[in-house]
Amino acid sequence: MIFTVAIDGPAAAGKGTISRAVAERFGLAHLDTGLLYRAVGARVDEGMEPVAAARTLTAGDLSRGDLRTLAAGQAASKVAAIPEVRLALVDFQRRFARRKGGAVLDGRDIGTVICPEAEVKLFVTAAPEVRAHRRWLEVGGDAAKVLAEVRERDARDMNRTDAPLRPADDAIMIDTSTLSIDEAVERACAAVAHRLT
Ligand code: CDP
Ligand code: CDP
Repeated sequence: MIFTVAIDGPAAAGKGTISRAVAERFGLAHLDTGLLYRAVGARVDEGMEPVAAARTLTAGDLSRGDLRTLAAGQAASKVAAIPEVRLALVDFQRRFARRKGGAVLDGRDIGTVICPEAEVKLFVTAAPEVRAHRRWLEVGGDAAKVLAEVRERDARDMNRTDAPLRPADDAIMIDTSTLSIDEAVERACAAVAHRLT
């Protein structure tokens, strides 16, 4: 079975949580594509040139301990605005999306660029204040700084010329602002189940 679930949306909207739950429920493989950009950003912070860092990325680069920090998110969104960096990561993501057995990918451009043919496209969003609060619960520190970071990254991701963050025309919108994790997961699973039957 080739079956792709594309889950896009802004930072801390709940994409990862929903993706993992959908993958487990339907027995699909899962790829968090944000990790690819975070790993490239980390290599650039170590002094590598961005395009070389993207072209030579290996599985080992994805299992670093420091990829979830706010700084890593910022570094990721900066390298993600470089078209050659995005291009270097396309093939791996496309192969993953169309692998036998089905796959869930979450990111910013899965339904629009990586897999426009995805059987299910979800755009998961929430109010910036809600997303920043959720991220702050995870990382702690100065709450105002976390909100500023989320807003800055949203603006960079939405305004870049190559593969900007936006819903695909046929994406199903899920606003998680007032949803519990279980409610958000159930909506996503219902959309997937509808396409599978
Ligand atoms: O992957 P993304 O950055 O979009 O978000 P996430 O890592 O799945 O979710 C960010 C945080 O929000 C996590 O701590 C989730 O548990 C939480 N969350 C929530 O409180 N309510 C939801 N409906 C979805 C996620
Ligand atoms: O978990 P969170 O939503 O905060 O971020 P992420 O999904 O790990 O993505 C980090 C950054 O990578 C984003 O802010 C984007 O700039 C970039 N990204 C992208 O451009 N395209 C993707 N498919 C995934 C991530």
